[in-house]
Amino acid sequence: MSIVVTAATGQLGTLVIDELLQRVPADQVVAVARDAAKAAPIADRGVEVRIADYNDADALAEAFGTGDTVLLISGLEPNRRDQHRAVIAAAGEAGVARIAYTSVLGGPEADYDLAADHIATEQAVLDSGLPYTFLRNGWYNEVYTDQIAGQLANGVVGSAGDGRIASASRRDFAAAAAVVLTGEGHEKKAYELNGDADWTHAEYAAELARQSGKDVAYHNLPSADYLQVLVGSGMPEPMAQMFVGVAQATERGRLAGRGGDLSALIGRPTTSIADSIAAALVH
Ligand SMILES: NC(=O)c1ccc[n+]([C@@H]2O[C@H](COP(=O)([O-])OP(=O)(O)OC[C@H]3O[C@@H](n4cnc5c(N)ncnc54)[C@H](OP(=O)(O)O)[C@@H]3O)[C@@H](O)[C@H]2O)c1
Repeated sequence: MSIVVTAATGQLGTLVIDELLQRVPADQVVAVARDAAKAAPIADRGVEVRIADYNDADALAEAFGTGDTVLLISGLEPNRRDQHRAVIAAAGEAGVARIAYTSVLGGPEADYDLAADHIATEQAVLDSGLPYTFLRNGWYNEVYTDQIAGQLANGVVGSAGDGRIASASRRDFAAAAAVVLTGEGHEKKAYELNGDADWTHAEYAAELARQSGKDVAYHNLPSADYLQVLVGSGMPEPMAQMFVGVAQATERGRLAGRGGDLSALIGRPTTSIADSIAAALVH
């Protein structure tokens, strides 16, 4: 009976493994990854690695064991809805004890395109009859701070207006996952996970300007213009459309604060956007 983490070589998965190893011995943790070479640093920490692509039902059938507690980390590919269903089916066949899933803030109430796969996956988990926990993750601080080089050069560009975003660091979300995977009392729970404080793009730009000492402004564009900027930067149009949808949802308040589930789970305040900006400026 192990704690099994899928997409373990991703940025979130790597942090979840790290947080788990701070709580339980390595022989209780299993990492599922599609690339053995990328998983080598995890194996070096004493964690068993099982190789399975979300598209490979035969490999997924070997990925889980009876009584395991599984974290399904959402994928990124266009067919991820079917991929997630395949993971849930394999977990059900194996008779796992519980499946946790990294969903979207608001769950079924999230009314933008990006959320549809998450809503379908939550439903597939419910339909499976497996004991579950939904980790409805808000936005990572790093979604914004990973763009700092461009923001310093061109300003912060978006179309979210004055919409507020209660983001938290990826590490915060990973810690919450580890708490839920190792603790009791999380069955049939859906946690709305976001940061303790929320901010607007204009406030973000002002904080980046303050910390960097550079002139950084927020340029709020109409949705159609923002789409052109994203496509012009090389983003595939369907993905750009999804980002525009998220910006519109942000303006409607869908990413704003929803209470303190995340800080309550991790037992500390969430990481502020200012701290994540500071960390990104150091690198
Ligand atoms: N809340 C947010 O702000 C936010 C932002 C971005 C994404 N997300 C969602 O949260 C997930 C985790 O975030 P992240 O930052 O860790 O993303 P990430 O670093 O891009 O990691 C994505 C992970 O998914 C794995 N994966 C993709 N396709 C797969 C497949 N066919 N079979 C098996 N594994 C597959 C990747 O495997 P490899 O390591 O082999 O590439 C990687 O481990 C993302 O996949 C996405 O669904 C959330």
